[in-house]
Amino acid sequence: MRTHYCGQVTEFNLDHEVELAGWVHRRRDHGGVIFVDLRDREGLVQVVFDPDYAEAFKIAEAVRNEYVLKVRGKVRPRPAGTENPNLPTGKVEVLALQLEILNRSEPPPFQLDSDDEDVSEEVRLRYRYLDLRRPEMHNRLRLRSRVSKAIRNYLDAEGFMDVETPMLTRATPEGARDYLVPSRTHPGHFFALPQSPQLFKQLLMIAGVDRYYQIVRCFRDEDLRADRQPEFTQVDIETSFLSEEQIMGLMEGMIRELFAEVLQEALPNPFPRMTYAEAMRRYGSDKPDLRVPLELVDVDDLMKAVEFKVFSGPANDPKCRVAAMRLPKGGELSRSQIDEYTKFVGIYGAKGLAYIKVNDKAKGRDGLQSPILKFLPDDVIAAILERTQAEDGDLVFFGADKTKVVNEALGALRIKLGHDLGMLEGAWKPLWVVDFPMFEWDEKDNRWYSLHHPFTSPKEEHIDLLESDPGACLSRAYDMVLNGTEIGGGSMRIYRPQVQANVFKALDISDEEAQDKFGFLLDALKFGCPPHGGLAFGLDRLVMLMTGAKSIRDVMAFPKTQTAADPLTQAPSEVAFEQLRELGIRVNKPAKEQPKAE
Ligand code: AMO
Ligand code: AMP
Repeated sequence: MRTHYCGQVTEFNLDHEVELAGWVHRRRDHGGVIFVDLRDREGLVQVVFDPDYAEAFKIAEAVRNEYVLKVRGKVRPRPAGTENPNLPTGKVEVLALQLEILNRSEPPPFQLDSDDEDVSEEVRLRYRYLDLRRPEMHNRLRLRSRVSKAIRNYLDAEGFMDVETPMLTRATPEGARDYLVPSRTHPGHFFALPQSPQLFKQLLMIAGVDRYYQIVRCFRDEDLRADRQPEFTQVDIETSFLSEEQIMGLMEGMIRELFAEVLQEALPNPFPRMTYAEAMRRYGSDKPDLRVPLELVDVDDLMKAVEFKVFSGPANDPKCRVAAMRLPKGGELSRSQIDEYTKFVGIYGAKGLAYIKVNDKAKGRDGLQSPILKFLPDDVIAAILERTQAEDGDLVFFGADKTKVVNEALGALRIKLGHDLGMLEGAWKPLWVVDFPMFEWDEKDNRWYSLHHPFTSPKEEHIDLLESDPGACLSRAYDMVLNGTEIGGGSMRIYRPQVQANVFKALDISDEEAQDKFGFLLDALKFGCPPHGGLAFGLDRLVMLMTGAKSIRDVMAFPKTQTAADPLTQAPSEVAFEQLRELGIRVNKPAKEQPKAE
């Protein structure tokens, strides 16, 4: 039907006849001449309808936005002064000789030349097939396709084998809620959709596959955010007989090659590494955005004896932390800005946001401005300024609370200040975070949980700690972080049955429960399991960062809303009674909330 894509007609085609097919992006009637921007996958080209070609002109008068057209025309230069340097086709136009309307369209529910923000997401998702026509969305899908191709090429060249694993399976232990699928042939029994192929890829190592990968859908029923979807895609990888050094080397090599090939960006070689402890101490986060040049500094030791209970209390409590964060030129912040930031840290449970403004250091106490100054002795003030290296014009923020609260509050404030005040340095800041703790204490449930998953190997020299001091036991896990987003994570796995049993014991998982849930893996470990390890990247997150999209929803063709629904197909939906009966399921709908009487 065509000789060229619309977006590929350029000055090289001058004076040639072309045949094009595409959608009407915009139509302008300039008294006597009609201009149509014709759009296809590759872009736009301007088509001109001149009354001299009466037949085509007449049809063009009836054309509306999003009609599907077939045009035969002649490429000519645009008149001087009307070129569009923003379009690859901007130097030329196509004089239409012949026009056929292949299909009509109702007026679209939103302008396709609008930005993401102009249209509600509900409407965009309901008419996703129109939303995807927008060049911006097209470019994202295209980049995503190039990313998966580059990843496949790299892994293929490194000897990785693409193996598929089941979607209908048993619950896997990544820590979210499962999506369940009822079994008709086994009434009362359910499959779980995989949260990841973790156990299967380990079985593949036992099977001798040696180097496995899969670009695979994973399902997690968890609270959704901008970087979380109920179904998402992992680049899942596992290897045998490699050390973590070798695995991390291979994996950062893949990301470097990907960025070089797709974005022409050079990432550092090697990626910097940071221990979990250091990341939490300096950035309050295990996925620090290193583009923000602000850091937390511990001041517990300085605050132990001060009369300000808000600080001395936490300073003397091992579960708490008192930290300071210097904001260069922060003296310029207004009272109301500081109030806003105080409200912001409140979201993370912080009870306040103490600060000291440094107006003139040379004047000592008199050169400072702060609601807490009166509680702090001179030597403490001097030590704070020294430790934070605050200069005249700076501001120092403080957080004092449970360590988790301080880290989350100041960690988030750090990122917010970085963005609000335009402080980001450098475009791409990847790093590895290593030496994660094996376990995390859950106050509510009063027990340890795996920080990664229960198949992660403890450090060899920490195996004894599994029993004596689980909180101090470090794992052989590693996360890859890019610009403050965890894009991938993995670990060396346990391959000896006894170590696996000890980890289950530390997690308070009984032998029966372990046998019931993971018996197949425990059995497999007995049959010559090689030392192995791997990781999984979040493909959606990676593409979100690479395209500059704000949400992973914008790099998925058909994502779910924040409430895990699809407005396009209206899923999830009710099903016929007959279908439920076959499955032996009776639905017990939660009663609708009655409006409360005043
Ligand atoms: P993990 O749970 O860390 O590890 O997941 C790996 C990566 O997947 C991405 N990710 C998500 N992306 C979008 N929406 C979600 N809901 C979501 N959850 C996770 C993240 C994350 O880094 N089996 C292990 C990997 C391993 O040990 O090899 C696992 O699934 O980018
Ligand atoms: P107050 O004594 O409650 O008036 O607090 C004095 C200052 O300390 C105010 O600037 C508060 O925002 C701040 N503040 C109170 N609690 C905390 C806390 N837990 N961490 C940091 N700053 C706090």
